[in-house]
Order: sequence, then structure tokens, then C-alpha cells
Amino acid sequence: RKHIISIPDFSREELELVVETAARLKASPRADLLQDRLIATCFFEPSTRTRLSFETAVQRLGGNVIGFSDAASTSTKKGETLADTVRIISSYTDAIVMRHPKEGAARVASEFSAVPIINGGDGANQHPSQTLLDLFTLRETQGRLDNLTVAFIGDLKYGRTVHSLAQALSLFGAKFYFVGPEALAMPDYLCEELDERGISYTIAATIEEVIPHIDILYMTRVQRERFDEAEYKKIQGQFVLRADMLRHARPNMKILHPLPRVDEITPDVDSTPHAYYFEQAKNGVFARQALLSLVLNETV
Ligand code: CP
Repeated sequence: RKHIISIPDFSREELELVVETAARLKASPRADLLQDRLIATCFFEPSTRTRLSFETAVQRLGGNVIGFSDAASTSTKKGETLADTVRIISSYTDAIVMRHPKEGAARVASEFSAVPIINGGDGANQHPSQTLLDLFTLRETQGRLDNLTVAFIGDLKYGRTVHSLAQALSLFGAKFYFVGPEALAMPDYLCEELDERGISYTIAATIEEVIPHIDILYMTRVQRERFDEAEYKKIQGQFVLRADMLRHARPNMKILHPLPRVDEITPDVDSTPHAYYFEQAKNGVFARQALLSLVLNETV
């Protein structure tokens, strides 16, 4: 596959291949796979994990990175179009990792790029490389991807990681619980997709009621930057996970969060055996190494 834009572009077998490759690279690190490759990281929106784990992935595989994390320091500020920016950067590099606040920006970029575009997040739409590291982490903790019961909690409307992961897991027969403010419910188009695939989902009112039934609790931050501040103030702090709420969790239930967290997981959860979000973030390097190697046709 040339560009990595959206999870619905992937087959189940392709997702499994990335997960397998990430596992191989975690078990047996390689320092040479991207030798002589130059990757651009173009971030039009803030990031800690996605940008730095892609850059770590490239450099630990022997490649080099150029890019920017502040579009205001580029000629975008002078009015250059995304199409022209991408045309130019793709003439310098072997692949472009791009994050952009506009939904569909990565797809547009792919139409003007001579090299693979990897979507590092486009608005509230998709975050496919996050889904790949989430799938890798699910398999690492649960030993399988099939038939998992997953609760998505928090901002299900604007949370692009939720959208991508729900679509991916629907290829593996998952069962979902959705918990969050009514104003931030899962988008209709995604519920319709799940209905079409015969995937079971239950909308629940509280975190406590779903905890005994799940393999994975996928917590998310309310995406404050994507809607009105007055609305945010009403919603903030409504769905918070505390350690005392985990009493009835299955022994191997794991808590994931794409991070950053704000206040939706209290720090006392970090030391419970259920917390796995920091390991999940670390797995971003292996999943992104796998993705880049496969996109650039390197044999792992
Ligand atoms: N999970 C994630 O996308 O984190 P960043 O916004 O820090 O890249």
C-alpha cells in the first residue's frame, strides 16, 4: 500500500501483518532497515507521542528525519497551499508523516505527493498509526485480537483514535461499550458501520457498570480544541477513572489511553496492574517502525 490514510483502507490481514512485524521488531531490534532513507514529519497541529515516536522509529532504524512541528514557521504562513507544500517536501524525501487539523487533509496530500503519505491524525477523523500501536498493545496484553470486549470512554465524537480503533476491531468480531457525555456520543456514521457489520455495542451510563465485563478500557481526553469553550466547561470532569473503581475488574483487564491525559484518569490508577497506557505509548515506536518498513518495502 502506498499511502496510510484511513483504517477502512486496511484489510484484516494487512492489520495483522503490521502487528506481527511490530512484534518482530520489538523482540529483535534492527538498526539498518531505513539506512539512506529520509522521512519528513510535517505537523500542522501539536503532538508529543506521534511525532517523536515516528522520529525515534526512523532514527533507530538508521534513517534520517527532517520536518516541522510549528506550521507558523513554514511558508504556509505566507499562504502556500497544502498541495504545493506536499509537492515540494515529497521531492526531498522518501515518505511524509503528516498531522493536520482539517479532516481529509491527509487524503488531499496523498493526491499531490510523489512519496507515501502517512496520516498522523487529521482533525476528528482518523489516526491510523495510533490504531496500529493500539492493536499491537491489545495483542501483547490479551494474546489475541479476536472477540475482545472493549469499553470506549470519554469523547467519542471528536476522538479520532476511537473512530479508527473501533473500525479496526470490527474486523475482529469485537463487542463494544460506549460511555461518555451525550453531546460527545459516537458519530452516527460509525454506529451505522458497526450495525452493517453486525457488531454489538451498548451505550452505558457509567464507567462502573461496564468494568466487570471488559477486557480493555480505552479512555480518552475530551478534545477541548475541537469545540466551544462554554460547552467544554459543562462536560469537563464528568467521566473520570479512579483506582477505587477498578475493584470488580477482570484480573487481566488493561486500561489504554492514547494520551495526553488531562484529568480523566487520576494518578492513583497508574500504579494498579490494570494501567498500561505508558507501555502503549512506548509501543508506538515499534508499530511505526513496522509501518514505515512495510510502506517502504523493506523486508523485516
Ligand atoms: N496519541 C497521540 O496522538 O499523542 P500526541 O498528540 O502527543 O501525538
